[in-house]
Amino acid sequence: MTDQSDIATKTRPSIRVQNAVKSFSGRVVVDVDDLSLGDVPVEGLIGPNGAGKTTLMRMIMHSTTLDRGTITLHPHGGAGDGVVLSNLPSHRMAHQGVVKSNQVIMDFEKLTIWDSLLLSAAAPGYERPYRVFSEDAVFDQAADDATRYLELFGFGDPTGFAKSAGEKKLLDIVRCLLLKPRFLLLDEPTAGLPEETTAKVMEEVQRLAAQGTSVVIVEHNLDVIWSLCNEVHFMAEGRVIMKGTPQEIRAHRTVVEKYLGEGHV
Ligand SMILES: Nc1ncnc2c1ncn2[C@@H]1O[C@H](COP(=O)(O)OP(=O)(O)O)[C@@H](O)[C@H]1O
Ligand SMILES: [Mg+2]
Repeated sequence: MTDQSDIATKTRPSIRVQNAVKSFSGRVVVDVDDLSLGDVPVEGLIGPNGAGKTTLMRMIMHSTTLDRGTITLHPHGGAGDGVVLSNLPSHRMAHQGVVKSNQVIMDFEKLTIWDSLLLSAAAPGYERPYRVFSEDAVFDQAADDATRYLELFGFGDPTGFAKSAGEKKLLDIVRCLLLKPRFLLLDEPTAGLPEETTAKVMEEVQRLAAQGTSVVIVEHNLDVIWSLCNEVHFMAEGRVIMKGTPQEIRAHRTVVEKYLGEGHV
């Protein structure tokens, strides 16, 4: 397992997406010429439904193949060689520290809350993550971290199963946090969560970003975007058409007219 304690002293990781195209049944849904993510701590990715936000994140994560193009991770920023993510087999992604939450939740129905979190925490470091349960040092660390998040987010009995969609959503976020990501992609993390929980999640995200993790967040709750993001990318019809500070994006006529509507600015 890599030692992550020195991350904060290094430069923030960035991801560059170049000439990346994805189509479904002959229809282009993502077509990004050149996009650099991770140059600031927290970036927002907004745009209408169907703009291609989730697909772009899935392309970065390797959960969907690219028709063409390159996606490169620069672990310490800069323009050096980097790791070409789009050439990596997907099981190698976890070792790069790039982690994504899910818009639609994978189910947590077969494992208890406790077991699913511990397995997630150990997954990137182990070929056989279930060994987390037999190796004391790894178990203790994972258990400490999991306990802290479970308390923070007010989960009751972790030996039970997640029930509501909200609980599963939150567990998926806890799973991401436990992985101590270097680059975190969040796809509508707060949809369906109560306001108080949303605030706590955002606090944790900010804490990670302050420690050197690069965060990209897709979110329909624009208050979250405006308050959290250093920069915002606006996506429409598969293309990233604009980038700016929250103030600039909020003030932009096209964005306001096509997407936000006067009431949301
Ligand atoms: N697996 C898929 N098969 C076919 N079409 C898809 C698939 N995934 C996404 N799409 C289509 O691609 C477009 C972009 O979707 P998506 O990336 O989910 O947008 P967003 O997250 O911005 O709402 C949509 O028109 C959607 O219907
Ligand atoms: Mg989406």
